[in-house]
Amino acid sequence: MRRKMIAGNWKMNKITAEAIELANGLKRELYKIDDVDIVVCPPFTALEEVSEATYESNIKLGAQNMHWEESGAFTGEIAPMMLKDLGCEFVILGHSERRLYFHETNDTVNKKTKAALKAGLTPIVCVGETLQEREAGKTFEVIQDHVYNSLKDLTEEELAKIIIAYEPVWAIGTGKTASPEQAQEVHKFIRDLLKKKYSEVLAEEIVILYGGSVKPGNTKELVNQIDIDGALVGGASLDVKNFSEIVNAASTCGTK
Ligand code: 13P
Repeated sequence: MRRKMIAGNWKMNKITAEAIELANGLKRELYKIDDVDIVVCPPFTALEEVSEATYESNIKLGAQNMHWEESGAFTGEIAPMMLKDLGCEFVILGHSERRLYFHETNDTVNKKTKAALKAGLTPIVCVGETLQEREAGKTFEVIQDHVYNSLKDLTEEELAKIIIAYEPVWAIGTGKTASPEQAQEVHKFIRDLLKKKYSEVLAEEIVILYGGSVKPGNTKELVNQIDIDGALVGGASLDVKNFSEIVNAASTCGTK
């Protein structure tokens, strides 16, 4: 059985005082939830404060990126153990904004995924096609490339520890959500890929989140899809009411 998960990607938003306020608000609203893993991913600068604010609560902490090396001369970068040190359990890797604006490739995402696992962090590995790619009929080709190459050379045991987030680039921050059927189709495709390349057990166990304009009003229909286990939420995760409603909506969905 897979656990449901709602993760908030705060992106480059919230100075520390705002981050603490948001974390405290979520704690107040969501303390009763025990059937959904709740994760917040603040910017690096607010990780320590949010870690303290969410300590011993049902809200877990994630980061939005990291470097693959353990330490060294990499000015401006953050190492996996630095995230662990602040209480992070998760790290988002290969988000489309990182791939698009910061030239991340499957290769760097692959190195980061291995480094995160080595450090005991759970990677949330993002995959997804652009509008151009979808319109050119290349969605499945792109997803296969992202899944196989971002996760290259991982053992089945390692793969069982990761989370995949399907985020169609055309649905991110645009207000255009993939329809539940469109999202389900790709989630099933990802599970089938994993079944083909690894095993049915792995394909059934792995948590796959949907991301792209998830809001309180569309969460239920998305998370009710058989292969969608939750959501990676951007804009709507910046507000206590919206994010709490999304978590509550996921909580009413059945477990798969
Ligand atoms: P929005 O929810 O703002 O579309 O962003 C989705 C996303 O990129 C989450 O990682």
